[in-house]
Amino acid sequence: MLLKNVKNFFSSTRSITTRLTVFYAVATFILLAAIAIFLYLGMISFLYQNDKQFLADEIDVVQYLLGSDLDQSALKHEVRDVPFVLAHSMYHYSIRVIDHNNQIVMQTPGMRDALKAADFFNKTSTNIGKRDQWWFAPNGDKYLLMEVVSQNKQSGNGVWMVQAALNVSAQHAIINLYRQRAMTVLVVGELFAIFIGYLIARRGMRRLYDLTEATKAITATSLHQRIDTESWPKELRQLGRAFNQMLDRIEVAFSHLTQFSDDLAHELRTPVNILMGQTELALTQESSPEEYAQLLESNLEELQRISHIIENILFLARAENPQIDLKKIQLDVHHEVNKICEFYQAMADDKNIHVNCRGTACLMANQVMFRRMISNVLSNALKYTPANGKINFSIREIDDEKVEIKLQDTGIGIPAEHLPSIMKRFYRVDPSRSHDTGSVGLGLAIVKSILFLHDGELDITSELGQGTTITLTFPKA
Ligand SMILES: Nc1ncnc2c1ncn2[C@@H]1O[C@H](COP(=O)(O)OP(=O)(O)OP(=O)(O)O)[C@@H](O)[C@H]1O
Ligand SMILES: [Mg+2]
Repeated sequence: MLLKNVKNFFSSTRSITTRLTVFYAVATFILLAAIAIFLYLGMISFLYQNDKQFLADEIDVVQYLLGSDLDQSALKHEVRDVPFVLAHSMYHYSIRVIDHNNQIVMQTPGMRDALKAADFFNKTSTNIGKRDQWWFAPNGDKYLLMEVVSQNKQSGNGVWMVQAALNVSAQHAIINLYRQRAMTVLVVGELFAIFIGYLIARRGMRRLYDLTEATKAITATSLHQRIDTESWPKELRQLGRAFNQMLDRIEVAFSHLTQFSDDLAHELRTPVNILMGQTELALTQESSPEEYAQLLESNLEELQRISHIIENILFLARAENPQIDLKKIQLDVHHEVNKICEFYQAMADDKNIHVNCRGTACLMANQVMFRRMISNVLSNALKYTPANGKINFSIREIDDEKVEIKLQDTGIGIPAEHLPSIMKRFYRVDPSRSHDTGSVGLGLAIVKSILFLHDGELDITSELGQGTTITLTFPKA
């Protein structure tokens, strides 16, 4: 029940500071209480053993005198005088000797009234040996009582009894004082622990508040800001670093996005401006039907260009959707490549370029995407290979798991400094010629995202004026 309540308390208390403070306070309480109880029990045991030993020693002396041949004056001194002298010390004790007829032979002055023989265990006890117990007198005094039954040689081995009582009120006062002080230390220590625990927990949590504030302050225009985690505790430093790294990634992605929308606007602006310019011109001047036909033809080209851009952007957006269902099927690579080559045959014939495909292999891929990828690399090869050139596809299985499709052309090649950027969106080696060639710079970006979706790899090597080789590595399954 208690455990359930504690559990409920922690599950309903959201604040980590409160939890840590409570944990700290409970731990400190347990520690302080354990120390106090340990010392308390140790002190009680020490005082009790001391008192017991003291009484036992006194009884031993009396017993010795009872059994010895010494005269009674030594016994009298031991029973009546010595305790009387110690009456105001901490060891205020009394002794009584009872003979085999149950008659009190001798006792310390004052013992008769304060401690009757009946207050002891059993004045008729015949069990040989010492026994002891605490006794609380009606007047509030506390005593340690001890009695011993022994045989007395002088009375023909009759059973005598020696009773001793030590007033332990002073010791009990010490114990009470200790208990009170221990309680005070426990309460003050606990309050102090709660205070310190709260400060420590709050201080530890301060960095989380910093992180919260930093997170709140981040906007699209302040993505460059980072948190200084150097002074943070080790455990939180990792969180701070991870947060900064996340900001790095978001900043890069955000700048890509900004760049992308810039490029997109730029790419669309050109055909739209041409469309507007041509249409305005046609509206302001009289034109012949042939000129209008020409204008429409030119407008159609620009519209096709816009449509090409939109279609490619849409394809990329769909391909980058993480929830995309690839719907892979078994493909005969040679057959698929041949199909695309047939599609581009007219264009190849125009430039008298010989397209050749060798080798065969099978793999699992999305057919539309696979064809799109082959189409993009082949259209590049055709676009950037001068007349009378050669384009070679070679297909092979690298091992049980991978298929390689290599495309070599004898085209213009790509300058080495452009190779690393060639797959970026809207990137072209020679943007000035892009309008004439109808290049948008999205072909290889699409190839890259198709390969990414299929866990494939892309490698481009090129020599200026000699040609380009594109190697596509695909997993079979
Ligand atoms: N086989 C090649 N030979 C020479 N240059 C190439 C070849 N393939 C690509 N490039 C260069 O890489 C650039 C990017 O190619 P990518 O296919 O991404 O765009 P694009 O062909 O210009 O336009 P898009 O394919 O969108 O119509 C091209 O502009 C071209 O400069
Ligand atoms: Mg291209």
